[in-house]
Amino acid sequence: MSKETVLVSGGAGYIGTHTAVALVEAGYDVVIIDNFSNSEASAIEGVEKILGRKVAFEQVDTCDTEALRKVFEKYDFNTVIHFAAYKAVGESMAEPLKYYANNLVSFMNIVSMMKEYGRPNILFSSSATVYGDAESLPVTEQTPRQPATSPYGNTKQIAEDILRDCCRAYEGLYGIALRYFNPIGAHPSALIGELPRGVPNNLIPFVTQTAAGIRECLSVFGNDYDTPDGTCLRDYIDVNDLAKAHVAAVARMTGHKMDASYEIFNVGTGRPVSVLELLTRFEAVNDLKLPYKIVGRRPGDVPAVWADTALANEVLGWKAERSLDDTLRSAWAWEKHIRNL
Ligand code: WQD
Repeated sequence: MSKETVLVSGGAGYIGTHTAVALVEAGYDVVIIDNFSNSEASAIEGVEKILGRKVAFEQVDTCDTEALRKVFEKYDFNTVIHFAAYKAVGESMAEPLKYYANNLVSFMNIVSMMKEYGRPNILFSSSATVYGDAESLPVTEQTPRQPATSPYGNTKQIAEDILRDCCRAYEGLYGIALRYFNPIGAHPSALIGELPRGVPNNLIPFVTQTAAGIRECLSVFGNDYDTPDGTCLRDYIDVNDLAKAHVAAVARMTGHKMDASYEIFNVGTGRPVSVLELLTRFEAVNDLKLPYKIVGRRPGDVPAVWADTALANEVLGWKAERSLDDTLRSAWAWEKHIRNL
């Protein structure tokens, strides 16, 4: 029997590379497409090194309908995982059109071509950002979404709605949205990981760059929140565990196990961790000191958000497994690898 093939858009990115590896390890074939707008060809090399084989790759912008059509003509696949999107919250406030155009046009191209070519399964990269400052914690998939506070977050909400409506309307189209909490860490081989351009927005890349001496001092954004140590609580999910959640979701779709044409799953650990706890663990497991200072709150940050993971645990048969310590070791190992330290 020939292998199931999965199209991975944005497959050269941080989560895409780890997912491509996990898919191939689970017995799927992958076709990666990426325009390298926020990634590098070296990411594909990393994937191939880990797997010990070549993977199909096409340098394609998912906004480019004709280029995308050629991918649908060339490859036979039933499933797409759509990662390709811009993801910087701050930049999206300054350049909303860039975000709406890229994130929504690329997604609609994918959905309409899946429909046109009779390819059934669409897995969408959503985000816990859709919950905003949630009414109750931990958040379940039923917790109401809050109005988006950034164009980036709005593109996630709109794309979820597009997928829901299309799966409802078009016979034979199935969708799963995975709502990621805070993905961190790198592959245990240190051959793939996050490659932020410029000054990182997210905590862990800023931490590892500070540890590497690239940044002078980490700013902790606020210690006066109503949380145990005053810093924000988040659900930090290891990127390798997150990748495996995609494999479980793909298996559910290709195995015709879905209960409805559109489903949503939280992908987190279910464990809230504060910024200070994270820094302390990072220092301890990597045996280093991190220069940091407490500064004012960052506008737009919610005090706390973490996942209720029962649905993913039960329905996808997936659970986060890697320890926070191992994840934080892998994040530092990756930074050292890319800086030749
Ligand atoms: C985590 C915590 C900060 C940097 C964002 C997006 C979300 C998503 C992941 C995107 C917060 C604190 C951070 C720093 C700090 N998806 N922090 N100093 O804000 O939870 O989520 O990234 O692709 O949609 O909103 O993640 O890593 O930026 O911050 O103190 O230099 O670390 O205040 O409490 P966030 P983050």
